[in-house]
Amino acid sequence: MIDELFLYSKLDLHRLPFHFEKILFDQYLQDFVEELRLDVEGQKVEVELTIEKNNNYEIYGDREHLKRVIMNIVNNSLKYIEKDNKKLSFHLSTIDSKILFKMADNGPGIAEENLPFIFDRFYRADMARGTEKGGSGLGLSITKRIIEEHQGNIWAESKKGQGTTILFTLEKAGDINENHINYRR
Ligand SMILES: Nc1ncnc2c1ncn2[C@@H]1O[C@H](COP(=O)(O)OP(=O)(O)OP(=O)(O)O)[C@@H](O)[C@H]1O
Ligand SMILES: [Mg+2]
Repeated sequence: MIDELFLYSKLDLHRLPFHFEKILFDQYLQDFVEELRLDVEGQKVEVELTIEKNNNYEIYGDREHLKRVIMNIVNNSLKYIEKDNKKLSFHLSTIDSKILFKMADNGPGIAEENLPFIFDRFYRADMARGTEKGGSGLGLSITKRIIEEHQGNIWAESKKGQGTTILFTLEKAGDINENHINYRR
């Protein structure tokens, strides 16, 4: 909790260093998913990955921080899905100059009235219910700050009882160059 809070504060103050480099995000996500499959081996977790073909997924990003982003999303699903058979479906595609990441789960979903707040710091949608899962409500706020440092957007789609999908976009490397991002401020 202290570490998360410290990290959030640093992100909030734009004092967390970012090391931007070229990343082939399709390869990167494939590697991540392979590792995840090994991590959840023996548990009833199905991990699906689809990558739309013939697209350019080159971005500028910070490998370590982006890993935290995806881990936070995955850990939420693993924590909140109460079914015996958990399912995580990753999907990668592009829209115009952006790549689009999606990860859908088969969990309990999030009520519409709570959805706008899940990226706020300390916000926990199920606090009022008796189903306390533990956590500080910082995971998604950290995730959002990291995506914003990459000039991306992040949002969620969900219906109570029908699972949750977390989506984010990142600009393709295209014309922007590394220096532009690094010296942006
Ligand atoms: N996949 C999901 N399914 C259902 N609810 C979710 C899911 N992901 C997030 N939520 C809801 O959004 C809230 C905020 O998520 P966030 O990751 O920021 O905090 P947390 O998981 O409660 O705590 P922390 O991540 O700091 O341990 C959660 O408390 C939960 O109510
Ligand atoms: Mg969390």
